[in-house]
Formats: sequence, structure tokens, C-alpha cells
Amino acid sequence: MQLTAAIQNFNFDHILLNAAGVMCQTKEELDTVLASNYTGAVVTKSATPALREGNPTPRYYEMAQNLGTINSMGLPNAGFDYYMDYVSQKQTDKPIFFSIAGLSKQDNLDMLRRLEASDFGGLIELNLSCPNVPGKPQTAYDFEATEAILTEAFAFFTKPLGVKLPPYFDIVHFDMIAAILNKFPLAFVNTINSIGNGLVIDPETDTVVIKPKAGFGGLGGTIVKATALANVRALRDRLRDDIKIIGTGGVTTGRDVYDHVLCGADLVEVGSQLAVEGIGVFERLETELAAILAEKGFTSLDQVRGQLKTIA
Ligand code: SIN
Repeated sequence: MQLTAAIQNFNFDHILLNAAGVMCQTKEELDTVLASNYTGAVVTKSATPALREGNPTPRYYEMAQNLGTINSMGLPNAGFDYYMDYVSQKQTDKPIFFSIAGLSKQDNLDMLRRLEASDFGGLIELNLSCPNVPGKPQTAYDFEATEAILTEAFAFFTKPLGVKLPPYFDIVHFDMIAAILNKFPLAFVNTINSIGNGLVIDPETDTVVIKPKAGFGGLGGTIVKATALANVRALRDRLRDDIKIIGTGGVTTGRDVYDHVLCGADLVEVGSQLAVEGIGVFERLETELAAILAEKGFTSLDQVRGQLKTIA
């Protein structure tokens, strides 16, 4: 069974990896993801230039019946230098995605300059979609700002760069963001980040379940799957073929992974369910995926990728 993928000259022996934010904040967590026999890569927690503690707790909550999660972590991370130190020292056959999420355009450009000047030979993810920093809107909902930062970045950046996007909800917005992204030599897009600014209420206490932003936070897990699939599909239909897609959102079963691939995903990230279930989720998902492929008579994901049928 061929469960592999490629982005530019990076080959992935498995298509699953963590989503930035889950099991990737410390070197030990990153090592755990890399050590799994069922991951194809690892992505670091989106870094800011300096260490951040993030938002006050409670800032993460799992809904009943595995419906999903809500979080307002606020980009807690060990700072750019910590992750640069990790990737500089790490010996691994698996590709590493170095994710960054500056709080301003200048932050992002400064970190990209440092990555460009470094020996880092992996892929870089520019996260334009964190919904959880009070007072900081998600850049990728501002089409002009997105084009501006990519224009400035690609004026000097030559390494394989992708963007992490928020979900879009309107066909015109799919058209608009794809038209912008197609202007740049992007290696990949990662879609979707959490659905920003949801609100979950505890029925026992009539209280919000997380503290930051009066309870507003990013939704993940089961409840975001349909939105994630729509974004993967819409962007696959609109982006240049050489811009690969990382599908993220709503993956709790092998069927969910299969659906992401059917919509056109090259790699698939697991966020909420990794937090819920732990590192063993990758083995379970790959086993379930392989069983579905075998039952349908497929021997490779290439036979499935992008093959979603519509009703004539
Ligand atoms: C967070 O740290 O608040 C989540 C990161 C993200 O949504 O990009």
C-alpha cells in the first residue's frame, strides 16, 4: 500500500503529521511525533520572535461525545531561537515544518530573514490565521495584507514556504484568496486553522468553558470537518498544481483522512484528536485508512487524491 506524498523535493513516507499547536511546543513533544512509525513529518508550534506564555487558563476544552474542541491558547511557544536550535541539532530522515506566526508583518519578515540565512533545510509554514491573540485579527482574512506580506517575503525568500490559512466560507473568498496565492511560488497551503471565535457554554453552570476573550475561541475536531473538506476541495480546484495542499481539520477516523485526500490533500494533519488520544492516534488512523483503501481495491493514495465525485 502506497501511503506517501511529496512536496517539491521532500518525500513523506506517511501522510499524517501533527497540526501546529498540538504536541509540538517542546523538544520532547517534537521528538515524540518524529519517533512515531506512522508520521511522515513534524511541524513545530508556530513561533513568535520571543517566548510567549500565551493566554490565561483554562484555554482549552474538549466537548462531550468527541464533538470537538475549543481553544484560545494565544500562541504559547518557546520562541524562535528554541525551535531554530531544535531543527539545527535534530538528525532525522523526516521533513520538518518550521512554523512561524509573528504578531506583525515585521515580526514575520524578520523571522523569514533569519530562516533564509540559516542552515535550516526543511519547509517553512507562515501561519496567517491564529484567531486567539486579543486585538490581532487573522491576517489571511485581509486579502490586501496577505498579498503585501507575500510580496515582501518572496522578494528575498528562496526556501520552500507555505501558508496556513483560516477557513473561508464564501465562494467569492475562495476565488479571491486563490488568485492571490497563485501569484507566488508557494510550496504548499495548509487549510484549515481552527474556525475562529466560536463559543461553547457549560450547561451546568451557564458559563463559558475557556477564560480568554470572554470564552471565544477556535473550534477544532469533529464539528469542523465539513468546513475543512470544503476548503481543501475549493483550494485544490483553484490553486496551481505545484502548490500542494495540507488538509487539516476534523480528522478523528481513517475515513476522515480518506475524505481529505479525496478532496485533494497531499498531507493530512491531526490536531484535536491528537490532543484527545495521544501519539497512538497516528497508527490507528493509518491502519483504518489502509483498510478502506484495500476494501475499495486501491493500492496507492494517488488513485484517490482529488478524485471526489459530484452529482451530474
Ligand atoms: C493558539 O496558539 O492560539 C493557536 C494557534 C493557531 O491557531 O494558529
